[in-house]
Amino acid sequence: MAIALSKPDSEDGTGSPFAVRLDRVSKSFGRPGKQQLVLDDISLDVAPGEFVTLLGASGCGKSTLLNLTAGLDAASAGAISVPGGRPALMFQDHALFPWLTAGRNIELALRLRGVPKAERREEADRLLTLVRLSGAHDKRVHELSGGMRQRVALARALAQDSQLLLMDEPFAALDAITRDVLHEELTRIWNETGVSVLFVTHNVREAVRLAQRVILLTSRPGRIAHEWRVDIEQPRRIEDAEVSALSVEITERLREEIRRHGQQ
Ligand SMILES: Nc1ncnc2c1ncn2[C@@H]1O[C@H](COP(=O)(O)OP(=O)(O)OP(=O)(O)O)[C@@H](O)[C@H]1O
Ligand SMILES: [Mg+2]
Repeated sequence: MAIALSKPDSEDGTGSPFAVRLDRVSKSFGRPGKQQLVLDDISLDVAPGEFVTLLGASGCGKSTLLNLTAGLDAASAGAISVPGGRPALMFQDHALFPWLTAGRNIELALRLRGVPKAERREEADRLLTLVRLSGAHDKRVHELSGGMRQRVALARALAQDSQLLLMDEPFAALDAITRDVLHEELTRIWNETGVSVLFVTHNVREAVRLAQRVILLTSRPGRIAHEWRVDIEQPRRIEDAEVSALSVEITERLREEIRRHGQQ
């Protein structure tokens, strides 16, 4: 069972016009009577093959929104629909199993997907090559740099062969150069696989560097404040003039939101 790497025509094989749909989603935490509204009336579609970044101040509910989309928690109101099945997840922390090698971490995801044992090694190697880590199959997690670990985590997420990839600040702990390289890799892999991506960050330039669409959330509660289409040709660089110009505009708007909500 090989992973489909060809870009889908216009849809993802489900016949659905969206890879994920959030319809008037709200989320509160806390006990009844002492509830904190974290997300308020969020409606959002990500189209098949689309790359969307969600941007907002710390604590505005970005991770909560991703967790709801992943099915790790339930919305308090509204509906979330992911027609392609279970999304793949990637976090800031690689969350690899340290007692397994890079290759075995990926093979485990393949096993959970039901890939027969005889095919797993080859498939794991193919995914490691895709993230430019061929030869790292037998390396243990502690032998890998932070950037390499995130590559393995990306390969493991891709091993789920999901049509939707949810990423929660996956490069936030990396140095700027390594992050640059991984931005390039992610853009290339997104192009090659046709996967839909919902990527959370609080880094405005990263959001603009990667996305076709940037969505800004307000804070307390998180609501959609504004969205921008990013029509800058890929591959982009974080220091490109057009990326900078749009980042300045979005940062202004983000600052306004933070001021309005009385945060630092
Ligand atoms: N399981 C939970 N129980 C109670 N409160 C929670 C829970 N998860 C999140 N919260 C609260 O919801 C709010 C939003 O948290 P969330 O982690 O989604 O923010 P975020 O935008 O991802 O922030 P950051 O940029 O710092 O990662 C915070 O006030 C947080 O304390
Ligand atoms: Mg978060």
